[in-house]
Amino acid sequence: MEVKILSYDDLGNGIARVSNKVYFVKQALPNEVLEIEEVESKKNYSLASIKKIISPNSNRTEAICKYYSLCGGCNFLHAKYLEEKNFKTKKAINYFGKCDNFIETQELNYRNKVIFHVKNGNLGYYKENTNEIIPIDYCYLLSPRTNEVLKLLLKKKDKEFNGEVLIRENSQEEIILVIKGNYNYIDYLKQSHIINNLIYNDKVIKGNNYFIEEIDNYKFKVNYNSFFQVNRKGLKEIKKILDTFLETKKINNVLDLYSGTSVLGIFLSSAKKVISIEENKYATSDAKINLELNNINNLEVITGKVEDKLKKFQNIDLVVVDPARRGLDNKAIDKIIALNSKYLIYISCEMISLRRDLKKLESVYEILNIYLVDMFPKTNKVETVCIFKLQDKVIS
Ligand SMILES: C[S@@+](CC[C@H](N)C(=O)[O-])C[C@H]1O[C@@H](n2cnc3c(N)ncnc32)[C@H](O)[C@@H]1O
Repeated sequence: MEVKILSYDDLGNGIARVSNKVYFVKQALPNEVLEIEEVESKKNYSLASIKKIISPNSNRTEAICKYYSLCGGCNFLHAKYLEEKNFKTKKAINYFGKCDNFIETQELNYRNKVIFHVKNGNLGYYKENTNEIIPIDYCYLLSPRTNEVLKLLLKKKDKEFNGEVLIRENSQEEIILVIKGNYNYIDYLKQSHIINNLIYNDKVIKGNNYFIEEIDNYKFKVNYNSFFQVNRKGLKEIKKILDTFLETKKINNVLDLYSGTSVLGIFLSSAKKVISIEENKYATSDAKINLELNNINNLEVITGKVEDKLKKFQNIDLVVVDPARRGLDNKAIDKIIALNSKYLIYISCEMISLRRDLKKLESVYEILNIYLVDMFPKTNKVETVCIFKLQDKVIS
């Protein structure tokens, strides 16, 4: 069936319309004329794939990865970066009415963390929306050193190994390798000079269960169970946005919610007082060490869920929230609104949940700025930094 692609859907698929039916076409770009085939038919729409490209978009390019059509990790390898930027920028404008800046990081080899699934010794990513493993020997999103660790693992395939492999890397190329499951060649991994820290079924076999990460002049202890942003350049860009904000506004008291190892709280510690709230006890225990590593004595770390621990702190000037993909809990939103903080900065890796939360926050807040920091190039995701100000009618 021949179609013309009209636009993108929210996930970066192409949309085509034939008679009254909508087709979401994987890896299709706007204005392309394509021959498509239906992959799955739903009640009101169909999922489709490209059979033949009749007239390509000028931003179409050959995907560099041999796993692209199978693996669900990337969504934009078939397009030049300019096209991906257009998609992300237009989506932000469509959702939030504007996009003040699109900040690039690094197009490939940016990720400092990966989880591989393993079945009968086959190690790889899950095929999109399935539990089927696509074995891989290289991933363009991962840093060069992390790809080296992958090669090392592939050299000693263990057919009895079923489980999970986590690889994390810091800016010094120091590796934490975490193996879960029954792997018979742990000694081989232990002997490798590129494996600095090795954890096997929660037991430290070599090195430590953490590394120290450096961002600008700050140092952060990061346990392998603690969150850290996967794209360091992106984190530095978020820091620049926060620095500029602090330079231009009078901020005394700050709340850093969903704080992980208190990285953002520490960046904001030139304020008079910062309080971090985070539920992961490994991350808050790292955060307390991070205060010492950076000589910070005006930051308090609270362990617990934001929706439970957030109380009516007095005189908060700025609330920073950086929740997981699912966004904010309703109870948390009510409590955040009750703080009456003049500014709110919402950092989100999922525009859909940000837009949903915005609908409630809009009762008191208005958007000052929307920045996109491209933490996840080649995927349909982008980090959105939304700066809100309390509406004048609420202040008065
Ligand atoms: C996207 S990370 C951000 C961490 C930190 N701001 C940073 O930049 O490193 C989200 C964090 O929220 C934490 N989290 C998730 N749900 C939570 C909740 N209900 N209350 C407190 N923390 C939560 C997670 O453990 C994770 O550390």
